[in-house]
Amino acid sequence: MSFPSNLSSAEEVPDVSYVEDVSPGTGALPPRAWYAQSDAARLSLNGRWRFRLSATADAHDASFAAPGHDTSGWDEVTVPGHWVLQGHGTPIYTNHLYPFPVDPPHVPTENPTGDHLRAFDLPADWPADGDAVLRFDGVESCAKVWLNGEPLGEFKGSRLPHEFAVGPLLKARGNVLAVRVHQWSSGSYLEDQDQWWLPGIFRDVTLLHRPAECAADFFVHASYDHVTGSGTLRVDAEVPGRVTVPELGIDTATGAPVTVPVEPWTAETPRLYAGVLASGSERVELRIGFRTVALRDGLITVNGTPVLFRGVNRHEFHPETGRALDAATMRQDLELMKRHNINAVRTSHYPPHPAFLDLCDELGLWVIDECDLETHGFVEQGWRDNPVDDDRWTPALLDRAARMVERDKNHPSVIIWSLGNEAGTGRGLNTMAEWIRGRDPERLIHYEGDPDCRDTDMYSRMYASHAEVEEIGRGLDGGTTRRRALPFILCEYAHAMGNGPGGLADYQRLFEAHARNQGGFVWEWIDHGIRDERYGYAYGGDFGEELHDGNFVCDGLLFPDRTPSPGLAEYKKVIEPVRIEGDGAGGTVRIVNGYDFADLSHLAFTWSYQLDGETVAHGPLTVPPLAAGESAEVKLPAPPDAGRPGESQWTVRAVLAADTAWAREGHPVAWGQLPVAPGAVAPAVAGDRPVRGDGRITLGPASFDARTGELRTLGPVEVTGLRLDVWRAPTDNDNGAPWQPDPRLGPLWRELGLHRMRHRLDAVEAGDDALTVRTRVAPAGRDVGLRTVYRWTSDGERLRLTVSVTPEGRWAVPLPRLGIRFGLPASYGSVRWFGGGPGEAYPDTRAASMLGRWTAEVDRLQTPYVRPQENGARADVRWAELSGAEGALRMEGDPAFWFTARRWTSEQLDAAGHLTDLVPSSETVWVSLDHAQQGIGSQSCGPGVLPGYQLMVAPAEFSFTFTA
Ligand code: GAL
Repeated sequence: MSFPSNLSSAEEVPDVSYVEDVSPGTGALPPRAWYAQSDAARLSLNGRWRFRLSATADAHDASFAAPGHDTSGWDEVTVPGHWVLQGHGTPIYTNHLYPFPVDPPHVPTENPTGDHLRAFDLPADWPADGDAVLRFDGVESCAKVWLNGEPLGEFKGSRLPHEFAVGPLLKARGNVLAVRVHQWSSGSYLEDQDQWWLPGIFRDVTLLHRPAECAADFFVHASYDHVTGSGTLRVDAEVPGRVTVPELGIDTATGAPVTVPVEPWTAETPRLYAGVLASGSERVELRIGFRTVALRDGLITVNGTPVLFRGVNRHEFHPETGRALDAATMRQDLELMKRHNINAVRTSHYPPHPAFLDLCDELGLWVIDECDLETHGFVEQGWRDNPVDDDRWTPALLDRAARMVERDKNHPSVIIWSLGNEAGTGRGLNTMAEWIRGRDPERLIHYEGDPDCRDTDMYSRMYASHAEVEEIGRGLDGGTTRRRALPFILCEYAHAMGNGPGGLADYQRLFEAHARNQGGFVWEWIDHGIRDERYGYAYGGDFGEELHDGNFVCDGLLFPDRTPSPGLAEYKKVIEPVRIEGDGAGGTVRIVNGYDFADLSHLAFTWSYQLDGETVAHGPLTVPPLAAGESAEVKLPAPPDAGRPGESQWTVRAVLAADTAWAREGHPVAWGQLPVAPGAVAPAVAGDRPVRGDGRITLGPASFDARTGELRTLGPVEVTGLRLDVWRAPTDNDNGAPWQPDPRLGPLWRELGLHRMRHRLDAVEAGDDALTVRTRVAPAGRDVGLRTVYRWTSDGERLRLTVSVTPEGRWAVPLPRLGIRFGLPASYGSVRWFGGGPGEAYPDTRAASMLGRWTAEVDRLQTPYVRPQENGARADVRWAELSGAEGALRMEGDPAFWFTARRWTSEQLDAAGHLTDLVPSSETVWVSLDHAQQGIGSQSCGPGVLPGYQLMVAPAEFSFTFTA
């Protein structure tokens, strides 16, 4: 076998000093614009590659890169992909801690290194002339590349493109591409984002033909003048050529501006014009969106109008393939966002797959494109040695900034560049910002980590409390002179970990009330649970990691399989771009157009009228095509005569009037309910007298244990364990984050013993008109307690329970819940109810809960949070009926209640670490009828529950009427 001169046949320890070198790499071409469509030939090198994993960076020399190397003992992996998700090694999850000793730029000797090999032939029609480049769209974290045995260079910057000129090395047949990928490198210090560490070639590898006079790099400048309604197009190109936009009659030279009347691009009206850049021998397809981004009067404006971000933070994630996403998944993400009224995405915390931004242009999203930079782990040492404040690292930072800006500069959707995330402050960041401003003065700059806003065009924060957001909105937050003149965004808020986030509607009110508050981006889009046989979805620690942050990686609005969580339904309602309001009795409904640009002509409105939750009439509602920001009182029809009394209301909906690129005609966008008449007062349930006998007390349809006063049967239905309940399996938000100043309720509740309440029986009194059971409910070891009286009455058919709770002692914490819980036979698996639905709701997550008649199986009432926790309550329930073997059991509340039913207890839910730990009981369905619930908040990272949603301990009385 012969080797090229630079390789040796003997296995020698290779020089891997580039791994720890702070430089971004050597050999790659300067970055340039990315584009999907050109007539130049291209060859995808995605697919199955030969693969060999070594424990260290220097385990093997470079001989594997030479054509003809014997790979018979090697494995295979799919590219794009991460080897740790393909059976080689395991993933590691840490939030901000580096999973290796912090000694920049050094990395551990144990440095998993994957040698990848791929042989390929050129297609028969591959052009003989011209050059070719090899492009890597993403490799984590450091790669060295050889083609046909020749080293091309090495690079870092995992989520950034790197290209190498390879023309002279290419052969018609039998090319061998070799890529050595190191999990750890100096680059790892710059990539400390809160996510799984997932090494590999995880984005496309492509060979691109470069015709003699190819388009090379080009910059599309397409601005919009909202005063004149004209757009100005100028395409600056490295290689001169012509630009044509047939629809606009444009045919001009590169570099020459043309101004014509156009329809502007906005996220609400993503108008794109097809164009062509023809330079020498390449034709590149352009998709041009005319829009102008500017800071005006202290506000972020597009086309002269301030925008309100209804955003999310999106990491790239798939439960099986990690950060290797296919086109369908990217589109699915965007369709789901658009269908849930989301209008903005921050690409936290790195530039996404380039095709994602094409989709943002097409479907309409405002994008904050964030650089692949985070050095959060240095916070542990007071930011000492932070690379962003050390000039030796500045070339690497500038390289990252340039690779992002150059790649993504032609997307109208990208309106803001973000320097990175949680990297402290330092000269390196200043230098990046300066470079970006020079290269692209037509966009704004974001960075959250510097409260003085030295480099940025907006004041940005994460997880600020409602009170602080209000203060900022009012301009009372102080700060530097520069900051005081800037608009405000929450680049992260509403931590969507587990059940929640709570308090979204309260934030939205603050965004809409104060012009300076230009909205926010929920943290985050999707749970990063990894599909796993043992656990359902795995999170930090499940792979035996030495350091990890548990399920903090599962904090999205989507479950890992992209099923929307209740949090997403809530967000959709809270940010709906049309407000539908009114008091119902007045005969009109107020419609407010909350879009920033669009009028309402793309929506159709309907009305419906419900009596006791049942729709008795419906029809179309004519709403004028209000312009953005306008509102109108629209007349409702005369209320239909339902022929019987009952609780009545209007429901008005706004739906898409025609198909769009992201949803079909009829897709719901906004709704509102206007109460008309309240329900009738329930008749008294009294008259029957408790009768003792045979160890039992009977009262109407019910029988009780004569000694304990416990309910045993209700008509034909056996009932077990009915008693006061105050416990819930703490949510991630209940458990709170250690860095939050608010008390962490989950641990406090446990310390107090709310999960082990004792029920002392004081008296069972069978009186003339009622059975009264007196108890005291309290935890061992504490002096606080709840005097609890159950008063049962009946009219012979129905059974009524009134629970009175009188607190004793000094209760310093809110309760998780307050209500009763009981067990029914397992056959009671179907529910009908009149109340809020169809989804889960808690006091501060109830905006999306729509009053109506709903049905569900008990199994479907569960919300599958990746780490099991309290879930599944339905709000405002007037009555619920559970059906089982013995017929239906009806429960009416006075007042309305929170309904929950599940096949395990709260204690079992609490004990479960993963969904696979939850085993449905074959005997019992546990039903909770709650008078009150503690709110949810978002304290798993942000602020706790607002005072108005806390379940403070106070005397309470509530009733339920049962009919079996
Ligand atoms: C932020 C950070 C995110 C994520 C979040 C908590 O501090 O920017 O990456 O860690 O907190 O989930």
